[in-house]
Amino acid sequence: MPQVTMTVNGRQVMREVEGRTLLVQFLREGLGLTGTHVGCDTSQCGACVVHVDGKAVKSCTMLAAEADGAEVTTIEGVTPADGGMNPVQKAFQDHHGLQCGFCTPGMVMTATALLAENPRPSPQEIRDALEGNICRCTGYHNIVKAILAASGQDVSALAAE
Ligand code: FES
Ligand code: FES
Repeated sequence: MPQVTMTVNGRQVMREVEGRTLLVQFLREGLGLTGTHVGCDTSQCGACVVHVDGKAVKSCTMLAAEADGAEVTTIEGVTPADGGMNPVQKAFQDHHGLQCGFCTPGMVMTATALLAENPRPSPQEIRDALEGNICRCTGYHNIVKAILAASGQDVSALAAE
């Protein structure tokens, strides 16, 4: 079996993997990082989004072997070690950007990548960035509001919608 080496949440890991192993399986089943969710088998839901070399990627669309040598960050890697919340997670909580929470890890990872690239996105830019993330509960409005708030922008205009 081929061997892959990658850095996951700052820690170097080396494992033998079958060629068909998806990155999401590698993270969840191989490394026990179950914060990355699987919500579909059609690559549509975005619950599995992680960062690969700083870019938001659906980890069900990539083989683990393709991430060989990459820097991978999962939701566990952006969550403070003390079990608290980072500013994006806190904004989701404060602005009711989640209900069941199943989509939330993917949403937070997509939002974090967006804010790294575009620190003050407009509501439309946020909606565009979330195009690949499905939420069955919230109707998206509060997710957009949470990301706007996480970027330090005024959410009052959105709140009035
Ligand atoms: S699990 Fe649905 S897009 Fe990856
Ligand atoms: S909060 Fe339930 S799917 Fe988004």
